[in-house]
Amino acid sequence: MNKVVVMVASPKCERSGTLIPTKAFVQGLEENGDFETEYIFIDKMNIKPCRGCLSCWGRPDGSCFIKDDDVPGIREKLTNADIVIWSFPLFLFGIPGQMKVLMERIVGMFHPYMGQKLDKDVIESKSALHGLRFQKEGQKIILLSSCAWCDIDVVYEPTIKQFDCIFGHENYQLVACPQMRALHHRGGERRLKILHDRYWQGGAEFAKTGKLSQESIDLMQKCIFSDAAYEKLVVEFVTHMFDRDDNF
Ligand SMILES: Cc1cc2nc3c(=O)[nH]c(=O)nc-3n(C[C@H](O)[C@H](O)[C@H](O)COP(=O)(O)O)c2cc1C
Repeated sequence: MNKVVVMVASPKCERSGTLIPTKAFVQGLEENGDFETEYIFIDKMNIKPCRGCLSCWGRPDGSCFIKDDDVPGIREKLTNADIVIWSFPLFLFGIPGQMKVLMERIVGMFHPYMGQKLDKDVIESKSALHGLRFQKEGQKIILLSSCAWCDIDVVYEPTIKQFDCIFGHENYQLVACPQMRALHHRGGERRLKILHDRYWQGGAEFAKTGKLSQESIDLMQKCIFSDAAYEKLVVEFVTHMFDRDDNF
């Protein structure tokens, strides 16, 4: 049985729009292989912020001195999973605060910085500046994110840069779902089915091959609303934001 851990970073928890493509992807995985999935809602966890001492890097197991919250248990699950899916909304062109706070607490899972000067090869190949040091062999990491903007190449650039530095470009796969807020609340059955089917297919492919083809990534990342329809919806949404009961 392969273990899948889904780290849900949206503060909306079960009402997260990002969970729609995430769950479809997981369903595609589970229906095409031997997978067992656990969802961890970061916002519901007791996670104390990093105190900045870096003593974790001095411990052989990289553990944090803070032991009385949920982080030790989460770390155990992250270490032993076969697939880790970080499911998060894009916030200010980066990851949500809750996810950042957790990642800072597990910095001991990464190789420490040892004063090295980077050579050109590392920079050009986008190799990890840290890289995971405690990770089940063969573990795969997927960043499955959603956002409002259509131009995902631009809006995800800072996040890609950050994760290239942390994990190394080859060691994770980002899949970004544009127009999510409008799809979630105004997509209608037909569009939501298109979204579901694309991500289900992605999960099925990943279950069978252990990777995602560029074709599948492109399809999952493709906008579903036309530019004109989407702009109209966003304007309407923002203008009437305070009259709405579907803000959460
Ligand atoms: C504080 C905040 C910042 C956001 N920043 C961005 C952003 O930089 N780029 C973007 O495309 N969408 C941004 N969004 C929109 C969300 O990424 C988008 O609505 C997402 O689909 C929400 O997912 P969720 O329902 O899983 O929380 C932001 C939303 C919030 C609340």
